[in-house]
Amino acid sequence: MSIDLPFHRAWLDDDEINEVVDTLKSGWMTTGPKARQFEEDFQNYIGCRHAIALNSCTAGLHLAVAVSRFNEGDEIITTPMTFPATSNVLVHERLEPVFVDIEPGTLNLDASRIEAKITSRTRGILPVHFGGHPCDMDAIEDIAARHRLAIIEDAAHAIESRYKERKVGDRHLTAFSFYANKNITTGEGGMLTTNDDDIADTVRVLRLHGLSRDAWNRFGNAGYSHWELEMPGFKYNMADINAALGIHQLKKVERFLEIRKLHAERYDAAFGDVEELERMQTREYATTHAHYIYPVALRLERLKVTRDEFLNAVQETGIGVAVHYIGLHLQPFYRKTYALEPGDYPVATDYSQRLLSLPLYPKMTEADVDRVAGTVRDLVARFRR
Ligand SMILES: Cc1ncc(COP(=O)(O)O)c(C=O)c1O
Repeated sequence: MSIDLPFHRAWLDDDEINEVVDTLKSGWMTTGPKARQFEEDFQNYIGCRHAIALNSCTAGLHLAVAVSRFNEGDEIITTPMTFPATSNVLVHERLEPVFVDIEPGTLNLDASRIEAKITSRTRGILPVHFGGHPCDMDAIEDIAARHRLAIIEDAAHAIESRYKERKVGDRHLTAFSFYANKNITTGEGGMLTTNDDDIADTVRVLRLHGLSRDAWNRFGNAGYSHWELEMPGFKYNMADINAALGIHQLKKVERFLEIRKLHAERYDAAFGDVEELERMQTREYATTHAHYIYPVALRLERLKVTRDEFLNAVQETGIGVAVHYIGLHLQPFYRKTYALEPGDYPVATDYSQRLLSLPLYPKMTEADVDRVAGTVRDLVARFRR
């Protein structure tokens, strides 16, 4: 089986390539002027006070949790329908992830189920804007305010997303991803946003071992000065080679989104009469959906195959597919460590068996989208009960 229409292909132009070459020729490859520029551009794009460039979104989530003054054993509410990074960082900081079931249609954490999970040890909520559809932040903020809980947002999928009139990332500690398959990419990379000056200072120190000055300042023109170790930190800084990509990717983010949106609408139109496919919904408060992925859920009772058989049948036609996600509550580590049962999260368990993500990216042509849609329609017809 060879895939000729991959699940994702990044859009990189000569701008990105030339900027990387310029970085290499400059002799400064790690965190420096390009990372600073990317931070400023991103800060302006989001409309927040600080954007701190990191080598991944996972690093951003980890630092957000590390600076939030939680204590060992505190409980943080999050979603099981996410990538492991979201809750792994809680485990690393000796916190307890408490999963709340998801909302049908958007696959986001179901805000109406949060309060039932709050205990005397709950200290925070970590929502994930699944697929770029923003979570219901008014509802989450209302609960957080009443129970004095911190909010940290996982916006790995949500660079462009807006909740009502607000940009995701303009209020709470929020982590973004520029991993290779994200809406914009730096190869590997992430950004943490905050409006809090003290938190931003601490994050900047923690991202580079806990040193008092970053390497750029240390070797700058102002004469030699010693660093001091202020706290034991991490190695989470973004290199200029990566930031060089980000500077130009960010300029194109809205153009990319326009194409993603058109492709998503084209899929919607193609699947409008296919009863066997459940399409995702967009709530009114989701004023900008980032369309990171195009998930569909198979109505298995109407089909003769399992999701995995369907997925393999699509791949056999040369089209790449993916699954976002099989819930974390079903993954061996979380299931065993926290004694979780599939029945504890019925909605997430059900979708974990039925979800399939189709290719959605600006490098795809309309003909590519039509090919995928046609293939899926044909397979549904073949496997219909
Ligand atoms: C929801 C979510 N959170 C966090 C991450 C981690 O991002 P990164 O690979 O930049 O660390 C991902 C990566 O795909 C993700 O999908």
